[in-house]
Amino acid sequence: MDLNGKKIVLGLTGGIACYKAAELTRALTKAGASVQVVMTSAATQFITPVTMQALSGKAVYLDQWDDRIANHMPHIDLTRDVDAILIAPCSADFIFKLAHGACDDLLSTLCLARPGNLPLLVAPAMNAEMWNNPATQRNITQLQLDQIPILGPDAGVQACGETGMGRMLEPEQLLEEVIALFQPKLLAGQHVLVTAGPTFEAIDPVRGITNHSSGKMGYAVARAAQQAGAHVTLVSGPTTLQAPYGVQLIPVETGRQMHDAVMSHIAAQDVFIAVAAVADWYVSNISTQKLKKNADGNHMCALQFAENPDILASVAALSPAPYCVGFAAESENLLQYGAEKRIKKGIPLLVGNIGPQTFGQDDNTLVLFDEHGHTNLPRASKQLLAQQLIAEIAKRV
Ligand code: CTP
Repeated sequence: MDLNGKKIVLGLTGGIACYKAAELTRALTKAGASVQVVMTSAATQFITPVTMQALSGKAVYLDQWDDRIANHMPHIDLTRDVDAILIAPCSADFIFKLAHGACDDLLSTLCLARPGNLPLLVAPAMNAEMWNNPATQRNITQLQLDQIPILGPDAGVQACGETGMGRMLEPEQLLEEVIALFQPKLLAGQHVLVTAGPTFEAIDPVRGITNHSSGKMGYAVARAAQQAGAHVTLVSGPTTLQAPYGVQLIPVETGRQMHDAVMSHIAAQDVFIAVAAVADWYVSNISTQKLKKNADGNHMCALQFAENPDILASVAALSPAPYCVGFAAESENLLQYGAEKRIKKGIPLLVGNIGPQTFGQDDNTLVLFDEHGHTNLPRASKQLLAQQLIAEIAKRV
């Protein structure tokens, strides 16, 4: 699990987005974290401590003078053996308090008393006018100067009926931010382009040729690169997956569209990772009308094929080329075919797996081929393998 063993203090302040904190607590605990909820008195107007206690499985703290802490120092005890503090939702008033070092309740006091190396994350939630107010923006600038990450807010319709900036990020987005916090920033600031999924080559308006690629591995690689601090663009064929948080998704259908999308974004890239299962061929005589079974008395229509551009080879041939990583699913002789394919494609790193049984699965085994030979990455979830792969790429770029 992504947050196994991590201890998070989740601070709630007054705002309607407190209702999302319930879901966030579930998401964090499901990911393996232990969550200690601390609420301001305003937060208790929006959601009860009972709910938060039930979801976190821990007594909620509200008050600096809580008798349950023997030494009466919850602001110290609650922040000494934890991995991060997340304030979600964080009200305009609480942002003001953090910016000015106020400490007139338990939550603000424990934030001020936190050890210097303990990350404090802030997820603002408020009405758009409050967010846009120069006073709030001054306080936000101060938090940024103090190295406090500001997560969101998002724009959209607000609980008050107005529209604009100030919506708290969704629980799953905040979860991704917390997970990313603990990932080493091995590709900080690098630009990474990933292809993923299958392609779909039309035969007629209702039919086409595709393959069993689910996109899971490519999406996992994009997510791991994003969590490693990279700016990630994901060019994806049709999948049922949601784009990983923070990743720019460019959806395409055909191999040629994928090629064009990659080539128009490649100049800015430091790393190119081709995970997509691109069709080798497309139908060059696509019918504009649905093909009928017995048209003209023929039982079979004659499809004509033309070769799709090899996207990976095109990128590898650029000068200068980004660091190129290819994928290969082989049904047998992986060690031989993988080593040969790396050289044939003209790339420094090729990732092999035994296909097609890996398609759609959540786990996999990988073999990395480079100029020194091959290295095995034993069976693990695609997400863990993606993180290991990103670490291997980071060693080489
Ligand atoms: N690839 C690509 N563009 C294509 C075909 C493949 O970018 N038109 C990339 C894939 O994303 C993958 C790598 O090339 O990273 C290997 O794909 P594969 O189809 O196995 O390579 P081929 O050269 O087609 O080899 P084979 O003869 O085994 O099909």
